Amino acid sequence: MLVSGNELFQAAKKGGYAVGAFNLNNMEILQAIIEAAEEENSPAFLQASQGGIKYAGIEYIAGMAKVAAEAKVPIALNLDHGTSFAQAAQCLRHGFTALMIDGSQLPFEENIAITQKVVEMARPNNVSVEAELGKIGGTEDDIVVSEREAAFTDPQEAKEFVDRTGTDALAVAIGTAHGVYKGEPKLDLERLAEINKLLDIPLVLHGASGVGDDAIRAAVPLGICKINIDTELRIAFSRAVQDVLKKNPNEIDPRKILGPAREAMKEVVKIKMRLFGSSGKA
Ligand code: G3H
Ligand code: ZN
Repeated sequence: MLVSGNELFQAAKKGGYAVGAFNLNNMEILQAIIEAAEEENSPAFLQASQGGIKYAGIEYIAGMAKVAAEAKVPIALNLDHGTSFAQAAQCLRHGFTALMIDGSQLPFEENIAITQKVVEMARPNNVSVEAELGKIGGTEDDIVVSEREAAFTDPQEAKEFVDRTGTDALAVAIGTAHGVYKGEPKLDLERLAEINKLLDIPLVLHGASGVGDDAIRAAVPLGICKINIDTELRIAFSRAVQDVLKKNPNEIDPRKILGPAREAMKEVVKIKMRLFGSSGKA
């Protein structure tokens, strides 16, 4: 069933686990996530970034959510890293049940203003809002943040931000980055603990592909309730496609090329659900 992001956020916060949020661009990814969630009896966030919406078309993403609504487990459809009010409004009209407004590139006051506006629109519709404070490094589709520009979330600023915006959840910058890491990232868990002590809302970890299992296990009890994974799905997908074509360069049937990719992504999703503690929590 399709539920509000708030339902997943609140259950995760109460239960002390995190729900995986997986980026959706095509049918095979949708099937991989839904099948994994049903087999693991786990909730899940499906999410489409602005780039994903541009690629697939919002009608197709919304159509895929209709399929997700038939799932036996609770699923939320989230806009990932939306940067404009118009984009958030369009997603709301198309049945998204969660909206991320990423004003992290804006000055503090402007980030507050745009987040307030999205909260005002989303709340009466029972749609959750996730905002971002601090700058998560790396590349997520059309958002590029260099290592030099990346900035960790300041706990006191986070407190003021949440008090003034009323956002339901907050993405924090504590050392992760989007895309493939050069080495294993080291998370600033002390900062996370401090933010969690000051705030009473679910926190979100972006750039979680490539983060070590122990770091994830340490971050979840410190308030992380949603964990975003995109890059590891991309890697599983493309490696599986490459394998098929290497073994059989004359293969022309898309089902024989994309079927193994779907299986590989499903395995990744299931492993993450177990690691995040959401398996069995649907
Ligand atoms: O918003 C999406 C995620 O933060 C993606 O992170 O590149 O580490 O998979 P990732
Ligand atoms: Zn992200």
